[in-house]
Amino acid sequence: PRRIRIPDLQQAKVRGERWAMLTSYDTYTAALFERAGVWALLVGDSAANTVYGYDSTLPITVDELIPLARAVVRSTHRSLVVADLPFGSYEEGPNQALATATRFMKEAGSHAVKLEGGVRVVDQIRKLVAAGIPVMGHIGFTPQSEHALGGYRVQGRGDDAADTVLADALAVAEAGAFAIVLEMVPVDVAKRVTAEVAIPTVGIGAGADCDAQVLVWQDMLGLRKGRLPRFVRQYADLDAVMGEAVGRYVDEVRTGAFPAPEHTFDGGWS
Ligand code: KIV
Ligand code: NA
Repeated sequence: PRRIRIPDLQQAKVRGERWAMLTSYDTYTAALFERAGVWALLVGDSAANTVYGYDSTLPITVDELIPLARAVVRSTHRSLVVADLPFGSYEEGPNQALATATRFMKEAGSHAVKLEGGVRVVDQIRKLVAAGIPVMGHIGFTPQSEHALGGYRVQGRGDDAADTVLADALAVAEAGAFAIVLEMVPVDVAKRVTAEVAIPTVGIGAGADCDAQVLVWQDMLGLRKGRLPRFVRQYADLDAVMGEAVGRYVDEVRTGAFPAPEHTFDGGWS
């Protein structure tokens, strides 16, 4: 089957067919998630946390993210690959945004880019769309603004804040984005936004009324340590599975049970 493309996502919204998006930052997960039916892969700046070990998404650079995006593109033939524009790589204005997005399209082969913000980034979105670069918006809680927003908190609670989320969604859609991530917004706000914008909404902590959902893969497969955000469902416990397996390997190396004869080669001196 051919690659998922932007019109497929639009048609899914019209049909009322929901689809899944998941982050990916490397070859094996990209191929596996695609095989499992994930329509869109996000090379998120969450790689700051999940790959590079930073404690926020702010430090990751374009040069750190591009090789991961290239790996994901190279490893798939069916999923749509979206790359995040890192903090500091698009805020200056449309020209900076276009220069950065162009690098993701040329050097990584990304199919689309994502950037955070509503009304304040419509000029950037317009510029990219005019250049033929599909843009996914991201509103509600935007992790790159965590310091301005006062930490990880729900956005759009109360009438005024809910109006702001809706206005951001409408502005992003009007600027030409092909989809919008809604992060940590109340369910009724996500529902109304989803009804009022013609483009697909991709929820994370935004309820089941969105057109699609996205999660960070290490969160939903149980690699992340500590308390998970409320919006994550943990579908597997890879920390336990991998920890047990590696522990056995360590033990068997120590005892000499690994490697066994079938893992070895003969020949050499006669
Ligand atoms: O970077 C990321 O993983 C994201 C998603 C959680 C939407 O932006
Ligand atoms: Na992100």
